[in-house]
Amino acid sequence: MIIERKAKINIDEFKFGAELLSTPADTIHETMKTMIVMQQVYSAAIREVSTKLEILDDEFQVKFAHNPIHHMESRLKQPQSIREKLLRKGLTPDMKLATEHITDIAGIRVICYYINDIYTIAEVLLKQDDITLIKRSDYIENPKSNGYRSLHLVVSVPVFLSEGTRNVPVEVQIRTIAMDFWASLEHRLKYKSDSPVKDDLQRELAECAESITDIDEKMQSIYVQLNSKLE
Ligand code: GTP
Ligand code: MG
Repeated sequence: MIIERKAKINIDEFKFGAELLSTPADTIHETMKTMIVMQQVYSAAIREVSTKLEILDDEFQVKFAHNPIHHMESRLKQPQSIREKLLRKGLTPDMKLATEHITDIAGIRVICYYINDIYTIAEVLLKQDDITLIKRSDYIENPKSNGYRSLHLVVSVPVFLSEGTRNVPVEVQIRTIAMDFWASLEHRLKYKSDSPVKDDLQRELAECAESITDIDEKMQSIYVQLNSKLE
């Protein structure tokens, strides 16, 4: 048996490390400190919102014998992507600017069973006193031209720290299993091809999104009919 004792991250250790590497210790120390503190705060915000969603999912199971949430994924935007996004927006790569202008540093993806579940989850989450809606983009009502569908919410959640409260933005993408299936494959296809996807393939992808939407709506209808028969 191997018992691995991982070294705890001690921000001050970086200072000594930097000195060993003959680099300006204070600069490296400050940068590392800002990054680690930021990661801690944003991952705390992810935990806050994820816990809220898990509690709601449990409550629906108890009350209605139905879990709206199939599963959840979360991610923290990597410093490299933060930097690229700031540059795309014409801003200097700077942590302070990132916290002011980038609202998807903390991201949660909620995969639901049915289309109605998406709106139920969004509504009950937004009803909570400590959740503030910053931006709502309904790409189900108004799909993107390529066929992309999801409900996007940017919410602000308070994170209670020893020094006080920080209101942290979290991007919540809510979609069905079917919408996620399409978005995951489309993302891979775009990522895999070096050049932009050709027009005819774009059209085929958009057609796939239409077919998936039909199936999503049929499945929703079957679920509603089955449930009304059970009542
Ligand atoms: P970003 O700069 O990408 O954050 O764009 P935005 O701030 O205008 O937000 P938007 O709501 O358009 O999209 C944010 C996220 O939604 C992306 O990072 C993806 O995760 C997802 N997304 C948006 N459009 C598409 C799409 O066409 N295909 C796929 N697969 N995902 C998408
Ligand atoms: Mg975004």
